[in-house]
Order: sequence, then structure tokens, then C-alpha cells
Amino acid sequence: MPFQFYTALHIFGIGLLIVSLGGMSVHAILTDKTQALRRPLLVLHGFGLFLIVISGFGMLAKVGIGWPLPLWITSKVLIWIIFGGLIAVFYKTDILNKAIWVIVPMLFLFAWYLASFKPW
Ligand code: HEM
Repeated sequence: MPFQFYTALHIFGIGLLIVSLGGMSVHAILTDKTQALRRPLLVLHGFGLFLIVISGFGMLAKVGIGWPLPLWITSKVLIWIIFGGLIAVFYKTDILNKAIWVIVPMLFLFAWYLASFKPW
């Protein structure tokens, strides 16, 4: 598969991730949290994260980067883990629900910055 195939998967996964996080945030604010909408949002979130990680490591394999991973990649894995953990926020506390509208785009921008500039 060409490198661009993995990039496309990466971006598609990010799209799913961000849609699901936005949906969860609003869902958690507006509704009783046990409703049926919760499951499809969780599925979108999990599928998005899955696509991001397999395509991310697919790209690394394509360009021949292996162990030990460079720090910019370790940082992206950390961002990926934070994105994974965010689902715990929405349904447990309302405090961060709106802050997430800023945190998610900032984390996304930072992940792009790491990939484009590879600063460390
Ligand atoms: C396990 C976690 C991740 C790994 C291993 C990973 C790996 C990579 C790699 C290898 C690239 C290509 C860099 C290059 O062009 O030289 C890339 C690009 C990119 N990644 Fe990630 N990534 C991960 C997580 C994320 C996350 C969580 C986001 C944002 C939500 C993200 C956003 C991006 C963006 C925007 C690009 C640029 C794509 C392009 O230039 O077309 N990545 N990533």
C-alpha cells in the first residue's frame, strides 16, 4: 500500500474521533447519560482510535522507522492515549465538557505539528 493510503486512513480516523468526541460532549450535557446514543458514539471513538494507530504505525513501517521510537512519535502516542482517556470525562463529570471544545482542537493541532516539524 502507498504511504498516502495510510495518511488517508489516519485522517479518516481523526475525523471519526473528533466527531465522536464532539457528539459525546453535547450528548453528556443535554441528555440523561444512559441513552442509546452513547453506544454508537463509543463505537465511532474506538474505531477512530484504531484506524489512527494502525495507520500511524503503517506510515512508520513505510518510511523504515522502528525501535527505539523517536520522541515525536512517543509524544503522538501519548496524545493518542489522552484522546482515548477523554471518554471517561464526559460521562463522569460535566466540568471539562465545554473545555474539551478547545482542548481537542489544540491536541489535534499539536499532533499535526509533531508530524510535520518533528521538533524532537
Ligand atoms: C499512535 C499514535 C500515532 C502515530 C504512531 C502517528 C504517526 C504518524 C506518522 C508516522 C505520520 C507521518 C509523518 C510524516 O509525514 O512524516 C503522521 C502524520 C499525521 N498525524 Fe499522526 N500518529 C499518531 C497519532 C495521531 C493523532 C492522535 C493525531 C491527531 C488527532 C494525529 C495527526 C496527524 C496528522 C494531522 C498528520 C499529518 C498528515 C499529513 O501530513 O498528511 N496523529 N502520524
